[in-house]
Amino acid sequence: MAHIVHSMTLAGIEGMPVSVEVDLPRRLPATIIVGLPGSAIRESTHRVRSAISASGKSYPKRRVVVNLAPANLPKVGTSFDLPIAVGILFADGQVAGEKIPNTIFMGELSLDGKLRPIDGAIALAIAASEFGAKRIVLPAECASEAAVIEDIEVLSAENLIDVINWLDGDGELPTATLQTNSTPSSKLDLSEVRGQHRARRALEIAAAGGHNLLMIGSPGCGKTMLAARMPTILPMLTPEEAIEITRIHSVAGILPHGRGLTESRPFRSPHHSISAAGLIGNAHLKPGEVSLAHNGVLFLDELAEFNRRAIEVLRGPLEHREVHLTRAQGTARYPASFSLVAAANPCPCGYSGHPTHPCMCTPAKVDRYRQRLSGPLVDRIDLQVWVQPIGANDLVQEQSGEASSNVRLRVNKAREYQRTRFQETDTVCNAELQGDAIREAADPTPEALDLLRRTLDTHGLSGRAWARLLKVARTISDLDKGGPVQAEHILEASAYRLEMAS
Ligand SMILES: Nc1ncnc2c1ncn2[C@@H]1O[C@H](COP(=O)(O)OP(=O)(O)OP(=O)(O)O)[C@@H](O)[C@H]1O
Ligand SMILES: [Mg+2]
Repeated sequence: MAHIVHSMTLAGIEGMPVSVEVDLPRRLPATIIVGLPGSAIRESTHRVRSAISASGKSYPKRRVVVNLAPANLPKVGTSFDLPIAVGILFADGQVAGEKIPNTIFMGELSLDGKLRPIDGAIALAIAASEFGAKRIVLPAECASEAAVIEDIEVLSAENLIDVINWLDGDGELPTATLQTNSTPSSKLDLSEVRGQHRARRALEIAAAGGHNLLMIGSPGCGKTMLAARMPTILPMLTPEEAIEITRIHSVAGILPHGRGLTESRPFRSPHHSISAAGLIGNAHLKPGEVSLAHNGVLFLDELAEFNRRAIEVLRGPLEHREVHLTRAQGTARYPASFSLVAAANPCPCGYSGHPTHPCMCTPAKVDRYRQRLSGPLVDRIDLQVWVQPIGANDLVQEQSGEASSNVRLRVNKAREYQRTRFQETDTVCNAELQGDAIREAADPTPEALDLLRRTLDTHGLSGRAWARLLKVARTISDLDKGGPVQAEHILEASAYRLEMAS
């Protein structure tokens, strides 16, 4: 007769229930695991055998058949060690079975019976509670991230012996407690950036309306510095956003184990040698940089150096704010709603247009380089700003720039206008507006419309450029008083749009 222990497996950030069925037929000793186990699960035999012995129990001296049901669902990861070990002991009559039907077990075992953390603990706990489970046993090191899920009891275990004693009623497993986990990026502040008023303003508009931003400027003018401070002016994380981020980072295995909910917005800055798969998601269905940057910032430094194909794949997530991966291993869906901030030098040597430093590039070289900064992706960047070299006065001045907390107040206010405006729709911020909704939301005054018409005529802007301009103007107005878009808002927005052409 098969004995059943409940567990879960991951498909992207979604968890699926899996029954671990264990049978011990009277045949020659061997352990067989069936039901599409991944290679890490096939290896679990060795870990489970040693862990059971190290916990003072004996591994059955007969055939051990483990079936992971449903058999057609691919299972990955090392989290099945614990349910397999519990199932074997249960089937062999070495532990009491009363608590087993109402509990979900997950955890990797080491040879000495210790429980190691698993990837995606919070995602698995969310899924477990959605499937109506009441209790989940997790390795202590990752249990605190799952503790945020309120309608499920999360028990944390240090090793297999703790679990055995708990099953036998010889001891209690502690309930996991919620912890938060802030990254060093939260210590950065915009006040450290001297001067650069235009770039700071562009950063604020980008944060307020969810727009993408491209900064062009010579080396050392503060582009990277500004971009790294973008998360500090974005609105505070809501509890739902914090759970979403933690869920993705946990599945990716980049959450510091032993710590809980992520408190700060992610800032991802992949190297320019990154591949398309690294940005979008790889063959093992792990999330790519666009998903790791979800609810935060994806910073592409040295944009011109990125592989063209890698850059082109960003168009999908920028438009749809999520990624669907279809690979040999299965399919996965990851959210990918991020603020794109990109930076580049104006030419290969970096000093084209610099007031004092001579540029060493030939005009042809500069042209070729600038061509790499055009194309469908850059066309989708709402705000393009030329960051000037920082003046000596600004650099030596005692007075620091405006603090992130102040700027964030204005950003919050602008977001509030947007929340009220979009309350009946799925739209979150101005950058997401499409089609007729842009004109409707902008509600431009006759003077603003007239200026818009003249700007389009003079510069021959494309339909998309027109839409982008109006969206940025909408955000500038939201940073003002949130009323109809005025001519002055169009004027400022068009300056960000046309900077590259000048
Ligand atoms: N506006 C500024 N205010 C204060 N410090 C600055 C400013 N700009 C640059 N710095 C100083 O110079 C360092 C380099 O700046 P940063 O890396 O942001 O330049 P960059 O524009 O990204 O250059 P590159 O084009 O070479 O990447 C910063 O770490 C900071 O110490
Ligand atoms: Mg830089």
